[in-house]
Amino acid sequence: MTTLRDAELTAAFDRASRAYDLLTAAHPGYHSALRRSARRLGLPAAGAGSRVLDLGCGTGSSTAALLAAAPLARITAVDASPGMLERAAAKSWPDHVTFVRAAAGELPAAGVTGPYDAVLAAYLLRNAGDPDRVLAAVRRLLVPGGRLAVHEYTLADGAAARALWTAVCRGIVLPAGRLTGDGALYRHLYTGVLRFDRAPALAARLRRAGFTGVRVLPMPGWQTGIVHTVVGVAPGGAPTAPGASGVAPGRASGTAGVAPGRALRTPDAAPGRRPAPAPAAPSRDTPPPPRSVPPERSGLPPRSGDPSQPGPAPQPAPRSRSGEQL
Ligand SMILES: C[S@@+](CC[C@H](N)C(=O)[O-])C[C@H]1O[C@@H](n2cnc3c(N)ncnc32)[C@H](O)[C@@H]1O
Repeated sequence: MTTLRDAELTAAFDRASRAYDLLTAAHPGYHSALRRSARRLGLPAAGAGSRVLDLGCGTGSSTAALLAAAPLARITAVDASPGMLERAAAKSWPDHVTFVRAAAGELPAAGVTGPYDAVLAAYLLRNAGDPDRVLAAVRRLLVPGGRLAVHEYTLADGAAARALWTAVCRGIVLPAGRLTGDGALYRHLYTGVLRFDRAPALAARLRRAGFTGVRVLPMPGWQTGIVHTVVGVAPGGAPTAPGASGVAPGRASGTAGVAPGRALRTPDAAPGRRPAPAPAAPSRDTPPPPRSVPPERSGLPPRSGDPSQPGPAPQPAPRSRSGEQL
């Protein structure tokens, strides 16, 4: 079985970066699932005042999902692969999105020190050589009450999910990888998912790392049982509104947490050139960011002490117009 790690994996993602956006565009539900996980972070007020980390941003699909869910949040997007990161940074982004090259296990050394109100790790954790070390690092970067969403190919328990994953890989993923010359990376994906935690085990891993309120949330459509969002809350003190707390003594609350000169910026994203955008227009996949996100939608418990968060009154899970659970 093929398992790529560290430099070998980074080199494989560098090579795969050429065709990555083409393949994800052909993947039904790839982008809407990322947006769903980003919404599940439950960032209130369209992310205004929040600092968010996109860990393993790749070519920027997860960054775009965060921007759709929280258009006013300040986003730091990190990836170890120069090829993936350059493609991400070459896209058009508002000023408050910054790209940094760093491995997940070495964030402070790269100037990524936070603190952050939320972290999205999309298809990252399974690739990490030591997922527990990455979770511990993420926990340290989050403010107390800060939120983590792990968006991952992590199978549901039982034989059906494994059979579906095998069929999808043998029928589509592995042939597509061979066509683009990235066979090794897509074999790594296939076998890596089979070896990685099932969704309940991934939730247990987050709990062991100290996260509270951990929940496993499913995806609709063909990804049911294959892709999940596992959400959790960083412990340590009364949670407060995003952006308002957890700032280390002596650190200005406005610092981006990125060392000067490290950030890759798009040519049209010079500081001060463009104001933060207005919240995105409503669409089926990206409903207008709510001022307060009900706990059922974010998948996480309400933030105590945050007046924008309602109490935990039982309500039916919200559904989109298509009837999908959000
Ligand atoms: C499958 S891609 C997903 C990219 C993006 N999050 C998305 O949803 O499209 C995984 C990304 O994680 C990056 N990655 C893997 N292991 C990493 C690590 N230890 N530190 C930083 N980035 C890593 C890879 O370079 C790759 O760009």
